[in-house]
Amino acid sequence: MHEGTSFKRCIACIGAGYVGGPTMAMIAARCPQYKVTVVDINASRIEAWNSDALPIYEPGLLDVVKVARGRNLFFSTEVEAAIREAGVIFVSVNTPTKTFGEGAGKAADLQHWERTARMIVREAASDKIIVEKSTLPVRTAAAMSRILNANDKGIHFEVVSNPEFLAEGTAVADIDRPDRVLVGAQETPQGIAARDTIVEIYANWVPAEKILTSNVWSAELSKLAANAFLAQRISSINSITALCEKTSANIMEVSRAIGMDSRIGPRFLSPSVGFGGSCFKKDLLNLVYICQSYGLSEAASYWESVVAMNDHQRRRFVSTMVGAMFNTVAGKRIALFGFAFKADTGDTRESPAIGVARQLIEERAQVVITDPQALDNAKIDLADHLQAIELTDDPYAAAQGAHAIALCTEWQLYRDLDYRRIFERMEKPAFIFDGRNILDHEALYKIGFNVFPVGKGALKHF
Ligand code: NAD
Ligand code: UDX
Repeated sequence: MHEGTSFKRCIACIGAGYVGGPTMAMIAARCPQYKVTVVDINASRIEAWNSDALPIYEPGLLDVVKVARGRNLFFSTEVEAAIREAGVIFVSVNTPTKTFGEGAGKAADLQHWERTARMIVREAASDKIIVEKSTLPVRTAAAMSRILNANDKGIHFEVVSNPEFLAEGTAVADIDRPDRVLVGAQETPQGIAARDTIVEIYANWVPAEKILTSNVWSAELSKLAANAFLAQRISSINSITALCEKTSANIMEVSRAIGMDSRIGPRFLSPSVGFGGSCFKKDLLNLVYICQSYGLSEAASYWESVVAMNDHQRRRFVSTMVGAMFNTVAGKRIALFGFAFKADTGDTRESPAIGVARQLIEERAQVVITDPQALDNAKIDLADHLQAIELTDDPYAAAQGAHAIALCTEWQLYRDLDYRRIFERMEKPAFIFDGRNILDHEALYKIGFNVFPVGKGALKHF
């Protein structure tokens, strides 16, 4: 039993965000023998974790939280107390792209991580395992280990890398049944002991063959590389969409044909208006920066082109709209269907819809945004343009009197709308730009819409 409590182990997690909250809730739900305390400096976030209105929208998450909250799962702002109590501390604070100084626009901003490390050193009174849960540049563990172990209390901190691979919207299933869990540690007796402690936690519900161990640098780099590979697949398929539109090839057929090759596989080959989310662009740019800082300019430009293609795809989507709508959208009402960076989340970080909205506003369109979960975030993202936009959770109201619909997020509800009713209330000619290719294009064309999918010939009545 852990000293002072009836639990076998006390675990703390610093950072109660999209990663810290769900991962710790799962550990607590699956392991009643551990006490899990999730702390954050953001008091309103903690308050929300302690309510039924969780701070993030994630299907199934509330049920998992409710299994353990108050039993062996606690959310608190008392960061210092949690540090003192825990033997294992996961750190899942944010590591955004640096916006200032050296590496601005590319490098990871590690200030939250370093501040956390220094607080751990200040508060700790016993040896601890520090787990890198945030996505970090390769070799961060070396710097962190130096900061942590430069203490005069004789305390040893062992830094382990345990990157998180969950995707938003499927976080609960991803943590419950992960493709793999990766634990990287130093190849020393203390490193191996720390690694085994972390493996033991996951082994409570993850099959042994899915728990991988590696050296700490491989684990750190695997996370950046995994995100870069996923993003690269999307940019690759998107790079073919424009060619399809020029040649009458159909990207859905091409994607299917490519994906049936078992060496390639079918996932992450859906063409789109571009990828968004808090991770892909940030981690790609971080990888680019790291390559550059080691003098690996060819590798850096290779990965940089994945970001460039993504930006291009989003701009191309709006250019297609302007071109199709007789080269002007000024004064025209345009309904954006979806603002979240993907379906089943309210998160809008790096959402392609932000860029689409801004480009349309520059063209002086009247932009109406509808989304079932992301309107509060949309208001923040476009705070400098609130007079130029309208927000509504009702897609029918958004489309009322509109010249065009631009579908940016693949919410199921947009597949199921009554498009005949929508068409009747739109300005004519009525346009639909399907940035996710999820709608029934032939049926929309028959209703009377001019339909512009991504990577497929347009269906036009003129
Ligand atoms: P987030 O912004 O949602 O959460 C981070 C939290 O850390 C915030 O609530 C913030 O208040 C808190 N924090 C910052 N400094 C702190 C401090 N000194 N003390 C206590 N709390 C502090 O971020 P996130 O999306 O959960 O991402 C966290 C990390 O995980 C990032 O490195 C990210 O790259 C990585 N990651 C994210 C995802 C994802 O889908 N969001 C997936 C895998 C990995
Ligand atoms: C990603 C990684 O998948 C996850 O492993 C990592 O831990 C965090 O980053 P996330 O950003 O939550 O997860 O969502 P993901 O499902 O990867 O989608 C990212 C973006 O790519 C979304 O905008 C999505 O719509 C887009 N996408 C995805 C495509 O455009 N086409 C596809 O085929 C797949």
